[in-house]
Amino acid sequence: MNLSGANSSPFHLDPISPFAGVKGMEQLKKEARAFLDSMAADPVAGADIPDVTLRWKQIQSEIESTGTYKHNYKELEFGSRLAWRNSNRCIGRHFWRTLQVHDARKCDSLDEAVSHLKCHVNAAFNGGKISNVITIFPQAQSSEDVPWRMANHQLVRYAGFEQAHGKVLGDPDSIDLTKYCINQGWDTKETPWTPLPWVLVESGRAHTPVDPFHDGNLSPHDIPIAHPDFPATKNLGLRWYAVPILADMALKIGGVIYPFAPFNGHYLGTEIAARNLTDPDRYNVLKPWAESCGIATKLRRGLWQDEALVRLNQALLASFDAAGVTVGDHHQIGRAFEQWCQAEERQGREVPGDWSWLTPPMSGSLTPQYHRHFTNSVITHTNYFYQPPPRVNGMTFTSKAKETHRLLATDAFPEEDVPKRCPFSSLGRTLKSFWK
Ligand code: ARG
Repeated sequence: MNLSGANSSPFHLDPISPFAGVKGMEQLKKEARAFLDSMAADPVAGADIPDVTLRWKQIQSEIESTGTYKHNYKELEFGSRLAWRNSNRCIGRHFWRTLQVHDARKCDSLDEAVSHLKCHVNAAFNGGKISNVITIFPQAQSSEDVPWRMANHQLVRYAGFEQAHGKVLGDPDSIDLTKYCINQGWDTKETPWTPLPWVLVESGRAHTPVDPFHDGNLSPHDIPIAHPDFPATKNLGLRWYAVPILADMALKIGGVIYPFAPFNGHYLGTEIAARNLTDPDRYNVLKPWAESCGIATKLRRGLWQDEALVRLNQALLASFDAAGVTVGDHHQIGRAFEQWCQAEERQGREVPGDWSWLTPPMSGSLTPQYHRHFTNSVITHTNYFYQPPPRVNGMTFTSKAKETHRLLATDAFPEEDVPKRCPFSSLGRTLKSFWK
């Protein structure tokens, strides 16, 4: 299995794998050192490395004798948190210190893997008060030696069943993986909201799909969506699951790569209501939704689409609230993130970011992110990265949903290559005090 990304950007794993020869070893040492320094400098985690010189010596000799090194638990914990903090596209990263780290580095059987993942789903849901959780499976020993991967994009994700006349029941983004699972014997009721089974890949070998949701064994914790002021919207039967648990990104800490480390935060309403349910190549519900709200859909310049979008987003937030499940809205999260940027600035630290992801897909100009300049410089020693999908019996499955044009990230550069005259992330003075 090749860890390097064909699709190159600072958000993809570096094509020069840290495992390749002497150059790789030097690169690994450089990244290990950069991480160690960040940890030592941290006002909280710094105390967990009492003797930096000693730890650095150990790491270097471990790299020289084994080609890699192992993190102790405290490094693993701080590293995965720091990787979150370094995620330029995440608007929720001011919560970075709250990440709960589950150590699954000893996992070596399918049963164990499944039980770690079930535990993750339940710990993250936490009765509705969503917890931020990561479960870290073993590190890659070399670019060919990857202990665990998963073909799924997220731990909970709806299947997409292809039907006659090009129609799809469920999420069109899941069609290929759904077909594969059915071919492998997955026997399920076809509904628009059927969670996909898990396709785990152990050392390059795909296990038969496991359906943890079958027979109510594990709940996807999904929530019915309706607008309190438009009762007819209930009849559309819309729903969405409570927690997005990303399973296909690689975690890198100080140069060490963990190819399978599912993680989650909580949802932002717009991710579901302004994208998953609305995008023409996803659930595409805007028109029937508008009709069920009694909005006339004849004149585009009457802005029926925008009106319907606002109603759908109100419904999403109200439905999660009624179910007692944590969800953010773009105003509250946008403001909290901006306040964090300002607090960081006061400490002399710049918050880099990717404007195109931090600005929400609706009402952009109402949020501080729209008005801020972000330097998109990417810290590469410790971060979450896109990686090529695992091979599953010769096939690969990718979520196209995440591969929008924004992935090209033409304005992103690795931290080492920031052009000298590049402006700092900044917001005008008047606006700054508005969102203080
Ligand atoms: N946008 C993705 C989805 O709708 C989830 C990405 C991660 N989101 C998050 N709030 N942590 O499923």
